[in-house]
Amino acid sequence: MNYKALVVEELCPDVFECKVRSRVIDDLPPGDVLIRVKYSSLNYKDVLSASGNKAITKDYPHTPGIDAAGMIEESNTDELATGKAVIVSGYDLGMNTSGGFGQCIRVPASWVVPLPEGLGLKQSMVYGTAGFTAGMSVEKIVESVQPDEGEVLVIGATGGVGSVAVAILAKLGYKVVAVSGKAEAKDFLEKLGAEEVIGRESLQKNLDRPLAKARWAGVVDTVGGELLAAAVKSTKPLGVVTCCGNVASPDLPLNVYPFILRGVTLIGIDAQNCGMAVRKRIWEKLAEDWKPSSLEKMYKEVSLHELSDEMDKMQKASHMGKVLVNLDL
Ligand SMILES: NC(=O)c1ccc[n+]([C@@H]2O[C@H](COP(=O)([O-])OP(=O)(O)OC[C@H]3O[C@@H](n4cnc5c(N)ncnc54)[C@H](OP(=O)(O)O)[C@@H]3O)[C@@H](O)[C@H]2O)c1
Repeated sequence: MNYKALVVEELCPDVFECKVRSRVIDDLPPGDVLIRVKYSSLNYKDVLSASGNKAITKDYPHTPGIDAAGMIEESNTDELATGKAVIVSGYDLGMNTSGGFGQCIRVPASWVVPLPEGLGLKQSMVYGTAGFTAGMSVEKIVESVQPDEGEVLVIGATGGVGSVAVAILAKLGYKVVAVSGKAEAKDFLEKLGAEEVIGRESLQKNLDRPLAKARWAGVVDTVGGELLAAAVKSTKPLGVVTCCGNVASPDLPLNVYPFILRGVTLIGIDAQNCGMAVRKRIWEKLAEDWKPSSLEKMYKEVSLHELSDEMDKMQKASHMGKVLVNLDL
């Protein structure tokens, strides 16, 4: 059987090309479950994989896509029956295993999450890994900070993780302050529920001090580097800061004072390798209590043919919100 997929080829060392091609099921790796993919979602890691980043994907030709949602077509396990709607995100999908930018994937049963009640396949991929990561980050804030304890800062707010975090936190009653590098982002972020939108420079202005004026009860950071350091230095006593990304920098120019004088907690978020119990719990929350009404307004739907343009925009950080990939277009 043939199916359509975005294929990245290495034409010669360090020169890569993305094309939509016809592939055969037999080319997929062995696995317990064959899934007909209906929707995927564009993530920063896919951009790296599609551009030939060998820290992400070692061998080409390759089909990226760290997210997939669809129906089971073949299965060798009773719990995952043919016809069941499922989500696969993280693990090795789209990295060195053929990913969700193809109409079929074959994966181990241990990677497969049944689609929770209350969530459509399309909605699950509007969230995608970015939304799931936002969910993991929000869970850490909710565990320690009550909405009446102060403002929650979201850094990288128009990105995939940031935009979903803004929307969920606002839905849960938190006062959200969004940090964005885009002057035109105010309206978009306010519609998601941000009470205030600030520029990166206003967060960074106290970076050279050992500690800055305490303002944030919680922080969801997606960028790393100086912005994360500035946020930690301006977090209130016993506040919680989550850290999931490095689009600005993998470095953290920080001292110990926020931790030893204010009891601030810095929590790392790893959505790729978290266990199945965490996955099911977060997806259930995303399907029910945390689902923001703005979910329908925060995405752009594209075909495989339109993905290269969207990857360029993500590389330049000029996009806003989520990119949903419809494999049937
Ligand atoms: N740990 C995990 O499990 C996990 C899971 C998913 C994603 N991630 C990582 O989390 C990060 C964010 O993912 P995403 O899907 O939200 O990416 P994204 O959609 O590309 O968004 C990142 C946002 O960061 C801001 N930004 C971009 N370049 C910046 C710079 N040089 N300095 C400061 N801010 C900058 C931009 O927002 P503004 O223009 O609004 O400032 C951009 O929209 C990535 O590093 C990704 O790899 C990690």
